[in-house]
Amino acid sequence: MTTSVARTTLTALALACVATLGHAQQAKLKVGLMLPYSGTFTALGVAIENGFKLRVEEQGGKLGGREIEYIKVDDESDPAKATDNVNKLIKRDNVDVIVGTVHSGVAMAMAKAAKESGTVLIVPNAGADAVTGPMCAPNIFRSSFSNWQPAFAMGEVAAKQQGKKKAMTITWKYAAGDESVAGFKEGFEKAGGQVTKQLNVPFPNVEFQALLTEIAAAKPDAVYAFFAGGGAVKFVKDYAAAGLNKTIPLYGPGFLTDGTLDAQGEAAQGMLTTLHYADGLNTPRDTAFRTAYAKAFKLQPDVYAVQGYDAAQMLGIGLAAVKGDIGKKAEFASAIEKAKIDSPRGPFSIGKSHNPVQDIYLRKVEGKENKMVSIASKSLADPARGCRM
Ligand code: BEZ
Repeated sequence: MTTSVARTTLTALALACVATLGHAQQAKLKVGLMLPYSGTFTALGVAIENGFKLRVEEQGGKLGGREIEYIKVDDESDPAKATDNVNKLIKRDNVDVIVGTVHSGVAMAMAKAAKESGTVLIVPNAGADAVTGPMCAPNIFRSSFSNWQPAFAMGEVAAKQQGKKKAMTITWKYAAGDESVAGFKEGFEKAGGQVTKQLNVPFPNVEFQALLTEIAAAKPDAVYAFFAGGGAVKFVKDYAAAGLNKTIPLYGPGFLTDGTLDAQGEAAQGMLTTLHYADGLNTPRDTAFRTAYAKAFKLQPDVYAVQGYDAAQMLGIGLAAVKGDIGKKAEFASAIEKAKIDSPRGPFSIGKSHNPVQDIYLRKVEGKENKMVSIASKSLADPARGCRM
């Protein structure tokens, strides 16, 4: 081979390598969306997916320079199917990142699988305290809340601001309900109130009549309830139909009235709830988000849409720092840990356990809105009990 032929061959090889590398860098990022697309939480899953995709579209269809390929699994909010479902995404589809889910019991199985496999998991709703508590891990993040956060804030509001002394609680019997009630009890009792009785129904049952009769007979000063989606619609309507809303105020984390007001109508009017999002924030950031969401989906956004949007923002921040190479786990995590996330809810940061440190709003239902009343708890961090990272 002459020197000039050898040089030409080497140049061609080098160009081929660059082309291959460029191609590899542009391979699509596989995002596994594991969400409820059936059952009582269907609307929540759809809103999360909408919010996530809106952010990706705003970024030209790419995050960290990589186009996104979606692989969807309906988790049916069924913990018994959760391990199989998440393993389909991890082992069969080889996803780069998992975004999910809504139900705390399902999310705990996902967190276990993510911890074992090292796959990045971003939880866009489920508040299971354990996910950013004992199960916390460098590759697990949450864009939403812990069950403790809005519940603890509501406990303080009920006792300190509303002057309630005795409360009963009612919830679905599973991790989210138990933890929400525990958070409310902690805030309420620290501030001088007392939880006199805790009532439960199995998830996702909506037969509330016997328990409403028990509440009516006991006449507490207030009731705290955790329900969401279709179950929240039914509970709030049944509570009003029993006439209880006239005498015993019904409080809850904002899931009780978020994304549900069209269906709840008159039954929800005047209700106070606490959450990390509210209507009427009137910030330029929130207005831009709401306008874009309404234009894209012909729907008003709710807290679930915001959490999906912010899951994509967090993924985008991590990916930008590693130029799309999600294998660089430490740099990916460190970028998210350092970020101030410019959320429609207001800016928030991610605490050491990877849960949002955020303002919790007190909201009041007026017409079809959960109107912001005040900040119930400023920059509230989950206690992250049991997280060692
Ligand atoms: C949960 O299971 O963590 C949950 C479900 C719906 C709304 C809020 C929390």
